[in-house]
Amino acid sequence: MILLAPTLVALVGLLPFVSCEKVGYFESTSCADPKGLASCYKLVDERYSTCINENCGGGGEACSKSCGGSVSCMNAKCPGLGIDCMNACAGEQSALQIDCAGAHCWNQVYSCEYQNTVLDFISVSTNPNRDGLPYWPVPDDAPGSCSCNIGKIDYKQSLILDQMTECSNNMTNIEKLTEVDDINDYGKACLCCAYSSIISSIWDTCPGTKPSLLSADEWFNSVLIPGDWDKCGPYLEAFDCAGDLGYDRADAGGNKKFWSPTSMPTNGTKTASNIAGYISSPVSGNTFTWTFGRTTNPLGQTTSPVLHTVTVSSVKAVVTDSKAQATSDSGSTATGTAASATASETKPGAGSSITVPSWTIIAIFVAVLFSGF
Ligand SMILES: *[C@@H]1O[C@H](CO)[C@@H](O)[C@H](O)[C@H]1NC(C)=O
Ligand SMILES: *[C@@H]1O[C@H](CO)[C@@H](O)[C@H](O)[C@H]1NC(C)=O
Repeated sequence: MILLAPTLVALVGLLPFVSCEKVGYFESTSCADPKGLASCYKLVDERYSTCINENCGGGGEACSKSCGGSVSCMNAKCPGLGIDCMNACAGEQSALQIDCAGAHCWNQVYSCEYQNTVLDFISVSTNPNRDGLPYWPVPDDAPGSCSCNIGKIDYKQSLILDQMTECSNNMTNIEKLTEVDDINDYGKACLCCAYSSIISSIWDTCPGTKPSLLSADEWFNSVLIPGDWDKCGPYLEAFDCAGDLGYDRADAGGNKKFWSPTSMPTNGTKTASNIAGYISSPVSGNTFTWTFGRTTNPLGQTTSPVLHTVTVSSVKAVVTDSKAQATSDSGSTATGTAASATASETKPGAGSSITVPSWTIIAIFVAVLFSGF
């Protein structure tokens, strides 16, 4: 059985709420260099408009304005512009926003806001190379980090999907099977174990957080339900997802718990917010680099990853506004500077707008390949 590698393209992205102090997802006053952040984002937005206007067909500017820059909106309202072109512009915009954040809000690089900023980039990228992304995923329980490590969820999910392909193509396993039915069952088991691991990546990484805030519904509606997750029980019992099918390997997401349709984990009830603590000096020094893209593209051709060099500003700024009381989802409390953090501005809802990309494209593969479940 050959499974095409799924292309991860997210179609849903919450537009950052716009208010006077809000810059992207950030409350700019909690950044080391609020003015710098605002002007950086402004330049990036201008560049994005120019990109659309110059490359993506006539009328781009009006459409982009009326849609507030949302690619999915523009694609629905003005399909003539070309989704690939707009995605390319949006990808550049998102990448540059990561630069802005790293330069002017370096004290927040573990926050929910930062993680959402990176997720936006991942969601508009085709075949993103996560290993080049700065502070991705963030370390667990870092000071001022998001109570739910959404970067880790994203990272695990990308490994699980790779493993889904690997498992389905594993000739060592397939050659041991002689009956056609056995081969079919093996293929279904590879999928069921992947679905089960995806559930674990959400529920077990952030057990306290409401799964609906972590794209659980998107996964169910676009992948698990069309993929007949509800019929997975017998396959999960008959096959060893962890060992034989490889899903517990670290490079396959390192999943330990395999939930089945009849034994689902309990839902968390909280929103996510930043835990106490703050970063008092730039995590990777005054200059850091990151790359996106890969050295080979999906067709095997050589490509050059784009190198971003970011110089942090206002290095001496000390921002102790952690606006955070929540304890981390992984159970332990933040250490280090956490105790002395002053939560001077507690803003309700800050950092609660988690958006994990939804992987609608996979649904198409699943629906096409496994309609005969
Ligand atoms: C738990 O969350 C999932 C995902 O949002 C939802 O589909 C399900 O109905 C919830 N279960 C309960 C018992 O609330
Ligand atoms: C195929 O499965 C076998 C047995 O589980 C495992 O040892 C091997 O590493 C797998 N091969 C690949 C390429 O994943």
